[in-house]
Amino acid sequence: MPKKTIILGIESSCDDTSAAVLEDGYILSNVMASQDVHRQYGGVIPELASRAHQQNIVPCVSEALRRADMKMSDVDAIAFTRGPGLLGSLLVGTSFAKGLSISSGKPLVEVNHLQGHILSHFIKEYGKENRSPSFPFLALLVSGGHTQIVKVNDYLSFELLGHTIDDAVGEAFDKCAKLLGLGYPGGPVIDKLAKEGNPDAMRFAKPNIPGLDYSFSGIKTSLLYYLRAELEKDPDFIEKNKADICASFMKDLIDILMKKLILAAKQTGIRQIAIGGGVSANSALRKRIVEEGEKRGWETFIPEIKFTTDNAAMIAIVGHYKYLQGLTSSLDVAPISRAAEYNG
Ligand code: KG4
Ligand code: ZN
Repeated sequence: MPKKTIILGIESSCDDTSAAVLEDGYILSNVMASQDVHRQYGGVIPELASRAHQQNIVPCVSEALRRADMKMSDVDAIAFTRGPGLLGSLLVGTSFAKGLSISSGKPLVEVNHLQGHILSHFIKEYGKENRSPSFPFLALLVSGGHTQIVKVNDYLSFELLGHTIDDAVGEAFDKCAKLLGLGYPGGPVIDKLAKEGNPDAMRFAKPNIPGLDYSFSGIKTSLLYYLRAELEKDPDFIEKNKADICASFMKDLIDILMKKLILAAKQTGIRQIAIGGGVSANSALRKRIVEEGEKRGWETFIPEIKFTTDNAAMIAIVGHYKYLQGLTSSLDVAPISRAAEYNG
């Protein structure tokens, strides 16, 4: 029997430190350490994030190897997130991966974090059905830092069809939560509160951007002005209407996302539709994609919740396909913080 490909993945782009081991694309372990320290500040503090990564990375990697029952000598390659993300955070993962590569003699494979979110649909688990999209498919990538529609032609061939020209949709969720005093990260709290509210109680300004691009700064401002005006009339407005505001704002955000996704599907004729990234954990978005899919004859792919947030299994799966194609990185590889500058 041919030897199985073993990839160790390391993720440290934002505020989650994670390490995973994959065997021919099957998960053997996926260990995560998230950082609660940012909650009290209402957002990720880069300096604190890098410090926490430094503390977490060694225990995470050893635990991932231990759970997988593997030693470094069993590993074929070390896949790590090169970017995009917070530079200080990325530096911790990159430096650690390099050190490990030198000490173990195993090759390095750099991974684009966004491709990780997209390819998370190809991570396999023993004993599960493991559905994955066929090529080409459309991926709606929605996270705290990015909002994109990507045409995926093959494991490592991506075409950006549209992206946000200002804020990411996750930022809109987080900003709304901040205005309502709900803490950080905002998405999960809004999602929960929205379940008790009326999604048609109020409407906010929708963007009018041509083509497949997105914009979320206008709707954020629209919410801000709306709340200001209402609070002048009634200082308890937010307290009394929290659930309705959440439900309505969330519906508008999802409408904006769906409008361009539907357009992209029409323009390309592609009916394999996948979502990924932190915001793909949103219950209403997950429901809408399935409903639209049934209506429009799409085959839809919704990641399990555990693969929506940043995790190293998604980095390892990209590493797996890159390694199979011989795409390893040299030891002088440096992190790249911005997506626009990183197409690898
Ligand atoms: O992909 P991710 O974990 O980190 C980035 O790469 O940015 O995404 C984090 C984002 C945050 O903005 C968070 O509020 C949002 O995902 N999020 C959600 C939900 N869970 C997380 N947004 C809406 N509904 C959710 N259930
Ligand atoms: Zn992410």
